[in-house]
Amino acid sequence: MESTITREQALELLKKYNKEAFHIQHALTVEGVMRWYANELGYGAEADYWAVTGLLHDIDFELYPEEHCQKAPELLREAGVGEDMIRSICSHGYGICSDVKPEHEMEKVLFAADELTGLIGAAALMRPSKSVMDMEVSSVKKKFKDKRFAAGCSRDVIREGAENLGWELNDLFEKTIMAMRSCEESISKAMEEYTA
Ligand SMILES: [Fe+2]
Repeated sequence: MESTITREQALELLKKYNKEAFHIQHALTVEGVMRWYANELGYGAEADYWAVTGLLHDIDFELYPEEHCQKAPELLREAGVGEDMIRSICSHGYGICSDVKPEHEMEKVLFAADELTGLIGAAALMRPSKSVMDMEVSSVKKKFKDKRFAAGCSRDVIREGAENLGWELNDLFEKTIMAMRSCEESISKAMEEYTA
């Protein structure tokens, strides 16, 4: 699997359709997380593909929330994104806004980790450090069980995502914390520049 556009082109495309800092930050986070997972799981040669897919996965969400995953193929195709990646992007909304099932391991990781980064990110903001660097699996577990906390992050999607990967929930939590640690600093710098 190879990306048909560069990271730079993908970032430009993201910013064409996304202006809110929240969406840019989420895209950068999922990009960094996917890159970490590609390397971790032995897909280092495809790391760019994993990362660019992460960067673009919510391309249509800010402007077309009612058509999430339905509008994306049009926006992506227009910009020269390949059909493989379009499929991968649509599969992250499986069962909610898309009927494209995650099949490839990267699609399964995207499905599981996307929702979880929201929960972990929200949990990080509750900490004095505002960081995932000193976050433990146990605190994610606690937040996961507390249904009122970050209620918009679907526990069912996260659970289903772990099941599809054949991983224990704790394993998904631990890996995703590490993945978020790997990119936290570079993303906070990028966001400082973006909001400056
Ligand atoms: Fe997302």
